[in-house]
Amino acid sequence: MTDATVHRHRTAMVRHTLSQPMSLAVRHGVIRPGVTVFDYGCGQGDDLRALAAAGVEALGWDPHFAPGAPRHEAEIVNLGFVLNVIEDSAERVVALKGAWALATRVLVVSVMIVGAVPLDGLRQFGDGYLTARGTFQKYFQQAELKAILTQVTGVEPVALAPGIFALFRSPEEEQDFLLDRRRGRRASTSAYRADRPARNAVARPQLADRIATATDAIAGFALERGRLPHPDEVASDVHDLLAAERVSFARAIEASHDAGIDADLFARAASERRDDLLVHQALNILNRSRTAARPSSSMVRDIRQHFGSQQQFGEQALEYLHALADPQRTVTAMQRASDAGLGAIDEDGRLVIDSERVAELEGVLRCYVGCALYLSGEIEQEHIVRLDPLRRRTTLFPITGRRQPFPETVTSITIDLKRQDVIIRDDPRTLLRKADVFGMARRSRQRSIEGERRSVSSDDAAKVLSRL
Ligand SMILES: C[S@@+](CC[C@H](N)C(=O)[O-])C[C@H]1O[C@@H](n2cnc3c(N)ncnc32)[C@H](O)[C@@H]1O
Repeated sequence: MTDATVHRHRTAMVRHTLSQPMSLAVRHGVIRPGVTVFDYGCGQGDDLRALAAAGVEALGWDPHFAPGAPRHEAEIVNLGFVLNVIEDSAERVVALKGAWALATRVLVVSVMIVGAVPLDGLRQFGDGYLTARGTFQKYFQQAELKAILTQVTGVEPVALAPGIFALFRSPEEEQDFLLDRRRGRRASTSAYRADRPARNAVARPQLADRIATATDAIAGFALERGRLPHPDEVASDVHDLLAAERVSFARAIEASHDAGIDADLFARAASERRDDLLVHQALNILNRSRTAARPSSSMVRDIRQHFGSQQQFGEQALEYLHALADPQRTVTAMQRASDAGLGAIDEDGRLVIDSERVAELEGVLRCYVGCALYLSGEIEQEHIVRLDPLRRRTTLFPITGRRQPFPETVTSITIDLKRQDVIIRDDPRTLLRKADVFGMARRSRQRSIEGERRSVSSDDAAKVLSRL
């Protein structure tokens, strides 16, 4: 078969919801109303319609479906599942360069990845496969795609999910993005404020009411970052309100205190932010991040507030890394996590934990998970994480049927920190100790079902994930 018989456009499907890369970009706040988006190789344009309907200015071009459309610069450019349908590797580079040239802030690139679909019945062609429909598919390795992106753009990409990377123009924006993603226990400001004390009625009640939106914004920031905001760090409508009410920013800060920034919650937010920054910096050092030396001005303020200086911050992050390299410390931390009901230790001494609870782990373990996610990106489905710091591996098991007594997993995504790669494979297993992994009460019904099943099947009581 020759190249002429490859019908690339036949790979474009009709979408009723946003594609995975676009929806990830929305979820991470990279795409939001007000930013401009360009979809390079937009196929039938369904992503564009969905974005436009949500108020995002989005245009696109496709050599088959929209060949005459102009190729515009945009803040965010998407190159979604295009590289994998091109059979000529030189042409992939041209497409990648073309998309990168248009991206003024971020380029999101997604491809099909090895292991994502079975290859039975496909005919090998070049470095990929031909399908019965006459289309070409190349299945990339995560590390291979990362290397191509780095080589062609000169920028090291950030993994958003297996097969999906983001490339940032600004190191500061990349650092903010990484810290935001690595943040552990996200402080939900609405929950924090639920039980705040009533407004101080003595201190100018009318003023407090008139500028309530501004003081809420200031208190929200304070309880998220554990410090008060700089004027640059609050939205322009807050400044507009204060100007209209002739209230200075300093006075608004004072009024926010009066309105009740709870001291304990403020201290807790500060300690969580400190921990988040340390995990972030430790991962920057471990991953030799090229943008680590370029924190945004807002992150610099966090560092000054919580560590005194950049130097002290760096030193503490290094100390933290040394502690991380101590196997005894990780083993103890995993045992503590299991004792606290955060997950279960399996027969090989690995910690198995619900992904939703990873944020509650100690920094040393969050660092291991963070290293894994740095390579693989995030998994959208509910999943279980198996942490094996001694073998330098982390495995993610997407689960179906969380409500079932024994939820099943069919695929595993192993992140090998030694080889710096991601391996996806068919790996059917059953979750045998759901009660431990999901932190259910000692006397839960699930625990007694598990106990009965174990005594019947005489399974090893320590087994957590059993092969089907
Ligand atoms: C699998 S579809 C993806 C479409 C869309 N991005 C999505 O995610 O739904 C691949 C698209 O890449 C387009 N394409 C093929 N060669 C291309 C190239 N050199 N540059 C840009 N797009 C290309 C095809 O026409 C096809 O519409």
